[in-house]
Amino acid sequence: MSALGKVVVLGAGNIGGSLAQRLAEMDVARELVLVDIIDGLPQGKALDIQQSAPILGFSTHVTGATNLEVLAGADVVVETAGLARKPGMSRSDLLEKNAGIVRGHAEAVRRYAPDAITIVVTNPVDVMTYYFREVSGLPPARVFGESGTLDTARFRTFVAEALHVAPRDVTGFVLGTHGDTMVPLLSLTSVSGVPLTKLLPPDRLAEIVTRTKQGGAEIVNLLKTGSAFYAPTASQAELVAAVAQDEHRLLPVAAHLDGEFGERGVYVGVPVVLGRQGVERVVEVELQAPEREAFRASVAAVRADLEILAKLPR
Ligand code: LAC
Repeated sequence: MSALGKVVVLGAGNIGGSLAQRLAEMDVARELVLVDIIDGLPQGKALDIQQSAPILGFSTHVTGATNLEVLAGADVVVETAGLARKPGMSRSDLLEKNAGIVRGHAEAVRRYAPDAITIVVTNPVDVMTYYFREVSGLPPARVFGESGTLDTARFRTFVAEALHVAPRDVTGFVLGTHGDTMVPLLSLTSVSGVPLTKLLPPDRLAEIVTRTKQGGAEIVNLLKTGSAFYAPTASQAELVAAVAQDEHRLLPVAAHLDGEFGERGVYVGVPVVLGRQGVERVVEVELQAPEREAFRASVAAVRADLEILAKLPR
């Protein structure tokens, strides 16, 4: 499905490496470049992935680099660089350090790849996406963050386990920030159209909501040395594919709000239609009163982090 010319993945850690592997195997672009500041790491992972091509049959050309000039000509950039959480840390604890990294990359995208679509996954993702957009100067439609697709995948997984049904038959939305105040929408979750609330009792649903909110932390606590990357990169690859194939997918991402859901000047997880131009539109689904309240609180948490960001030395 080689619909894109060039994809650049910034950061060759667990996320960057796993994402590069998925994208290569999907044949999503003719050229895939993995970038990191640690010399040898992106080149080594890229060469390793490239050597799987004869077996797996993909034709994407995979290379590694340490210089940001390779951004030139990129159709899609995925920003994965930054520190990951350790046990006991919140995603917001990463704000200051990761803002410095994101700033440098956003400036490089402005300079070398102003026509690219950028997907930000660095945490705290809603805030880093806002910052990337601001520094890069790209139109809001062409900068969005991964959050809801991952949280929704976790939510769908737990629902599927509880009901003993195929995970892919569970659809739904987790909106709001990619953090403790995320909002799993029970009212919009179904199994092949059958409303979830008709299939599980309220106490079981509450357990699933709690586990979803702590989905990332559960893995951080198990791994002890880093955070999740298999499900995150599956979700990122889904977003890249939606752009590459101009699929017009209806997915939750961290998108810029300009009045939708009663909010303005903030990036937060909402349903959007995603295609080759990036975020085509925000889909304003109707929320039930408690969900609306929870969403407002979630946006307030993002705004609190944006205030911290605004006070950082530039
Ligand atoms: C998680 C991290 C990547 O949710 O934010 O696993």
